[in-house]
Amino acid sequence: MSESVKMGRRPVLAALSAVGLGGAPFIARAQSPIVIKFSHVVADKTPKGQASLKFKELAEAKLPGKVQVQVFPNSQLFGDGKEMEALLLGDVQMIAPSLSKFDRYTKKIQIFDLPFLFDDMEAVDRFQHSAAGQSLLDSIKPRGLQGLAFWHNGLKQLSTNKDKLERPEDVKGLKFRIQASDVLETQFRAMGANPQKMAFGEVYQALQTGVVDGQENTWSNMYSQKFHEVQKTIAESNHGVIDYMVVTNSKWWDGLPPDVRKGLAEAMAEATEYGNKLAGDFNARDKKLIGEAGKARIQQLTKDDVAAWRKAMEPVLKKFEGDIGADLIAAAQKSNR
Ligand code: LMR
Repeated sequence: MSESVKMGRRPVLAALSAVGLGGAPFIARAQSPIVIKFSHVVADKTPKGQASLKFKELAEAKLPGKVQVQVFPNSQLFGDGKEMEALLLGDVQMIAPSLSKFDRYTKKIQIFDLPFLFDDMEAVDRFQHSAAGQSLLDSIKPRGLQGLAFWHNGLKQLSTNKDKLERPEDVKGLKFRIQASDVLETQFRAMGANPQKMAFGEVYQALQTGVVDGQENTWSNMYSQKFHEVQKTIAESNHGVIDYMVVTNSKWWDGLPPDVRKGLAEAMAEATEYGNKLAGDFNARDKKLIGEAGKARIQQLTKDDVAAWRKAMEPVLKKFEGDIGADLIAAAQKSNR
């Protein structure tokens, strides 16, 4: 397969030959659109699902006939653990992994996993827009990856198959599914729980069969995957963030015709704004729907409860400060107002 085909650009599909008036043969070539496969692991009715569909709509409208964007949700094409590799191989052109899934590529992005670092999503947004935050989009370039945008999901909540989930001691000895992140592993170990790294697509079944007792996620991810149907309690802990980086293969991106790259960058900026505005509403809506479904109980936490979780997770910051960089952490903390 030629390099350009592998990277998602089909050079010339139709070649019509005919004989001109003077008898000389000529070839009329029709350029086929550049196919952009966009793979992700969540449902369409989530902030990431909607933002990727908006990107498709905008990109195809801005670059008619020049690009075709194919969105594959729900780990249909590639799940966690495979999608980054597929991007580097050119089997897919865009993915949007959670920021927790980059630690094999750069230690810096681990900053987003530090528990209780950001007070709210506004702080996350300010940090992502700051010079320090924007520099993270280029931090994976040496690995052949280019970050295009940050997309929001929201703050994480904790859930288990137990009746009580108020204080860190309630998770002691329990098995938790975590994303592939060493920071998250340390976070659960700090509370005496047993973390297990697992792909998102496998979580529902693992919860249902008791392979793990609990997990941490946003309201929209829990609702769209029906985690609330196989968990007893969800504590509104807001202890961390799940956001995304849209990434592409830097060689593919740099090799695009400049007008296409420009159009895609504009579509990405608009889709980002669109999706990021939706994220808060989706999580509020899905929290309500989980409450109404009456399966898992939503546990509100008091200030003292939250202080106890914060204290229990404190060792994480110390352990990863060196890898992430004190300057970057300070820049993130400055975004809390
Ligand atoms: C998870 O793996 O729990 C989530 O981050 C999945 C996603 O992409 O939101």
